[in-house]
Amino acid sequence: MSQDILAGLDIGTTKVCTVVGRAEGEGRLRVEGVGVAACHGLQKSIVVDVEETVRAVRQSVEEAQHMARAEIRAVCVGVTGEHIRCMNKHGTVTVPSGRISEEDVARVMASTAVELPPGRVLIGEPIPRGFAVDGQSGVRRPVGMVGTRLEVETHIVTGTASFIANVVQCVEQAGLEVAHLVLGPIATGELIATQAEKDLGVVLIDIGGGTTDVAVFVDGSIAFSAAVPVAGNHVTRDISIGLRTPSESAERLKRERGAAMKRFIAADETIEVVSAGTGERLRLPRQVLGEIIEARMVELFSLVRAKIEESNLYNRLAIGAILTGGGSLLTGTVECAQEVLELPTRLGRPSGLNDWTNKVDSPMFSTGVGLLYYAAHRPRRSNHTPPRPPNFTARLRSFFRRLSGGNEVKVKREA
Ligand SMILES: Nc1ncnc2c1ncn2[C@@H]1O[C@H](COP(=O)(O)OP(=O)(O)OP(=O)(O)O)[C@@H](O)[C@H]1O
Ligand SMILES: [Mg+2]
Repeated sequence: MSQDILAGLDIGTTKVCTVVGRAEGEGRLRVEGVGVAACHGLQKSIVVDVEETVRAVRQSVEEAQHMARAEIRAVCVGVTGEHIRCMNKHGTVTVPSGRISEEDVARVMASTAVELPPGRVLIGEPIPRGFAVDGQSGVRRPVGMVGTRLEVETHIVTGTASFIANVVQCVEQAGLEVAHLVLGPIATGELIATQAEKDLGVVLIDIGGGTTDVAVFVDGSIAFSAAVPVAGNHVTRDISIGLRTPSESAERLKRERGAAMKRFIAADETIEVVSAGTGERLRLPRQVLGEIIEARMVELFSLVRAKIEESNLYNRLAIGAILTGGGSLLTGTVECAQEVLELPTRLGRPSGLNDWTNKVDSPMFSTGVGLLYYAAHRPRRSNHTPPRPPNFTARLRSFFRRLSGGNEVKVKREA
């Protein structure tokens, strides 16, 4: 039977990308449409121009709809940025009946609800990392099990309320409903990292234009998430300033002649650089370009390493690192990551899907496809339901009320 059409919406610092498809059963995904619109409405993953962002969202959705020959009403939206914080919470309830029901699971999940400071909101719903029944950990699906004590550890992600509200506002102004709001790297990691990698410990590093997202998976699920405010656009800017060349030629130099490590460039090679202002063409050693890029890439991976170490999970990464995002396309990036992080590293991209578009097999589409994948694996409203549900903020508030047993959530602290 044909499943409902679903859509992932990745609002990035360089582009907005919509990926449309359907779940095919057995966890498989069919990608039927993709739309990409250049966007200058964000800086470091924060909306700074609503009008421009709404335009790009509309454009990318129209393109994806046209390709898929389907209408999209609701989208799974990814957010990220340096304002993101995460924490793992532990909760316990007793099970009076002696057999665990769905209500018991809902109660133990609710027991991990946190009180957020003003100006912070929950992103997505708390993610169960694992359950324990009568002290026995490692339980994935406790419903139906016999036991009297149910425990859970959840992963909770929060962000700055106004930043999140601006993203939701852009999506709603583009005429779409937010079916899910999720931290981009969580959705990307679900798609790009295999279950075995997540079981053994892996860090997903999404190098975008404005931010580099970090998501650590151990024991099968997300354990830590963060974002670093350095990514591909910083490299371009450094080249532009360092070689005094316009940003378009800096971008071209980076993609065509750049390398993340100087040692990948032979000492006798040269590049032609157009001078900003005069338009004069200069010939320079290509290694100069390598030096500029290497300095920034080493900084980027040092910041990523510091985040991983901060999480105390560095020693749990038996698999190592997976790089994705457009910034990972730079020559020598895997080797650079490997040296700075001191972890085995591979490139990740959305492959092995039933991709009718033949377009999404690139690290630049990992988040867009990841968001579609996330939507396909979560219960959701149909894309064809005509009445508009209450707006997303209202739903978030009602979710919190449910979590806190009907009481208003009071302000306390956040990890
Ligand atoms: N072939 C390439 N070589 C080097 N860099 C590349 C290449 N292709 C794209 N990039 C870089 O990838 C970055 C864009 O990546 P991506 O599309 O994943 O970002 P984004 O999702 O729009 O941004 P963000 O995730 O930060 O919000 C740009 O900085 C661009 O220069
Ligand atoms: Mg991105």
